[in-house]
Amino acid sequence: MRYLIRPWNAPLSTRLDSTSQLPSSHLPLPGSSSHPFTCRGNIYLMTVATRSGVPKQRLFRSRHARGTVICGDALIITKKMPSNSTRLLFLDPPFNLGKKYGANSYMEDNLTDDQYEGWMKALLRECVRVLSPGGTLFLYHLPKWAMSFGSFLSDHLEFRHWIAVSMKNGFVRGKRLYPAHYALLMFSLDAPAVFNRPKLPVEKCRHCGGNIRDYGGYSSIIEEKGINLSDIWTDFSPVRHAKYKNRKQNELPLGLFERIIEMSGCPGDLYYDPFAGTGTGVIAASRAGMRFKAVDIHQSNYDLICTRIEEHCIRSRQFTGGKR
Ligand SMILES: C[S@@+](CC[C@H](N)C(=O)[O-])C[C@H]1O[C@@H](n2cnc3c(N)ncnc32)[C@H](O)[C@@H]1O
Repeated sequence: MRYLIRPWNAPLSTRLDSTSQLPSSHLPLPGSSSHPFTCRGNIYLMTVATRSGVPKQRLFRSRHARGTVICGDALIITKKMPSNSTRLLFLDPPFNLGKKYGANSYMEDNLTDDQYEGWMKALLRECVRVLSPGGTLFLYHLPKWAMSFGSFLSDHLEFRHWIAVSMKNGFVRGKRLYPAHYALLMFSLDAPAVFNRPKLPVEKCRHCGGNIRDYGGYSSIIEEKGINLSDIWTDFSPVRHAKYKNRKQNELPLGLFERIIEMSGCPGDLYYDPFAGTGTGVIAASRAGMRFKAVDIHQSNYDLICTRIEEHCIRSRQFTGGKR
C-alpha cells in the first residue's frame, strides 16, 4: 500500500505518490520537514490508497450490516458521492484542537481558524449536496464553531435544533464561564421526511426510588407515556473514561447515535458518517437496519471500524440462529 496526498483544493491529477520527487511548490509538514507528504496553503490532506490509487475500502453485504467503510479524506470522498443520496448525515469532525487521532497521524489538527473554517465549509457544501430531500444533517461541535457553521448551513437547509449535549470536566479558559455543553446542530433539507420524538423514562431518586420531579398531578400519565425529549440532553456523557471506550481518543456514546437514528433514521436508507472514528455510529445504524457509509482518514480507525462491524455481525448471527 502507498500513501497518496493532495491539497484539498488541488485537482486529482496533482496526486503524488510517496516515492515521487516533490515539486518545489510543495512544502513539508510543519514540525516534520523530512516528511514525504505535500502541502499547499498549509492545508494537508491524505488519502490512504491501494497500488491502483483507489482509496482503501471494504464492502459489507450481510443481513446485519450493509455498507462501505473507506479509509480516506472526508472531503475527497464526499465529493465523489452522488447528490441526493443520503437520508441521515452525522458529522463529528476534528475540532482543530491539535489532537492525534490515530497511529500514523499525518493530518495536523491545528490549522489556522481561517483554514479550518474554509475546509469545513467546503465539506459542509458537499454534505448539503448529498443530502436527499427530507434528509437530516447533524453537526456535533464546540459552540464557537457551531455558530459559524450553523449560520452557513442555514443558508442551504432548514434549521431544526441547537441541542445542548451536557458535558462534564470542561476546562475554564480565560474570562469565560465554565463550558458545560457541546452543540449538536440539527438541520433538514425541507421538512424532515422522518421525525420521531423519543420519550424518556421518568427520572427516579437513587435513594428512595420516587420521582425526582413533581409533575403537577400528571405523574401517572407521564410515568405511563414517558417524558418528551427536549433540546437539552443531560443523560449522556460525551467525555468518558478510557475503560468505556474502544480507543484512547474521542468516542461518542452509543446511546447518542441510537437517539439520533431513532429521531431521523429509516431502515434501508443511507446513514453517512464522514468522521466515523470508532464506528459507533455505524453500529447503531446497522442495528436499526440502515445502510451505511463510513469514512476515517486513519488506517487504525478504519481497521477498528471493520473489526467492530465484523463482531457486530457475528453477535447478531448468533442471536438470530446463524442467519447471515
Ligand atoms: C472527533 S473524532 C470522531 C469520533 C466518532 N464520532 C466516534 O464516536 O468514534 C474525529 C475523527 O475524524 C477523523 N479525521 C480527521 N481528519 C479527517 C479527514 N480529513 N477525513 C476523514 N476523517 C478524518 C479522525 O481520525 C477521528 O477519528
